[in-house]
Amino acid sequence: MSILNYFSKDPDKRAGFIFDFIAPVYGLVDGVLESGYKSSIHLLNAEIDLNNMSVLDIGTGTGAWAAMFLKQSNSVQGIDFSQKMLAVSEKKHPGINFSIGNAEDLSEIADNSFDLVTASYVIHGVTADKRAKILSEMKRVSKKHVVIHDFVGRTPLFTRFLEFMERSDYKDFKKNFCKELQIMFPETKKIRSVQGSGLYLATK
Ligand SMILES: C[S@@+](CC[C@H](N)C(=O)[O-])C[C@H]1O[C@@H](n2cnc3c(N)ncnc32)[C@H](O)[C@@H]1O
Repeated sequence: MSILNYFSKDPDKRAGFIFDFIAPVYGLVDGVLESGYKSSIHLLNAEIDLNNMSVLDIGTGTGAWAAMFLKQSNSVQGIDFSQKMLAVSEKKHPGINFSIGNAEDLSEIADNSFDLVTASYVIHGVTADKRAKILSEMKRVSKKHVVIHDFVGRTPLFTRFLEFMERSDYKDFKKNFCKELQIMFPETKKIRSVQGSGLYLATK
């Protein structure tokens, strides 16, 4: 993919370029995220029993978050629109079923297909209209639960720098996300908020 895509006005082209570009490095450093991911899963387990659930992880990247569900869940599937991220995740996590796709349009997946649909550090990067489409698709393909793991509160300087470079919509996301989730789902709950990261459970 050409570097010109980084300067594109089309946010999908820009994101595609960025995530393909950082995929090899992301795969090397995602272990750093692991301890935070583990404690989030621990707290999530206290809210809903993850045993034997079927899980769909959208924007799965190198699979670090999806892999957290492997121990308990019945099946774990990951979707991402970056071929290069998926190439890394397929090597790292053979137990997960990965496929290429855009989370804004999951029309190949039937309604109510998964017990749990989740996204970790995905929707902060997209504009409000895209967030609405993604949340709506997550809700449609989930039988009951949607879990969002993403930036909240005051994020570390390094994160802010990365988001600036990515030209993501994360400031608007942080301001409006809770309201957007409440509009989309009858029940929402903030499970955790620590060091600039939050864990939210939404129920259909
Ligand atoms: C910051 S990474 C997070 C990866 C992983 N979820 C984790 O927590 O380690 C964001 C991922 O979301 C993917 N992504 C962003 N928007 C997407 C979309 N509309 N459809 C599918 N994947 C998307 C990117 O390609 C990238 O792999």
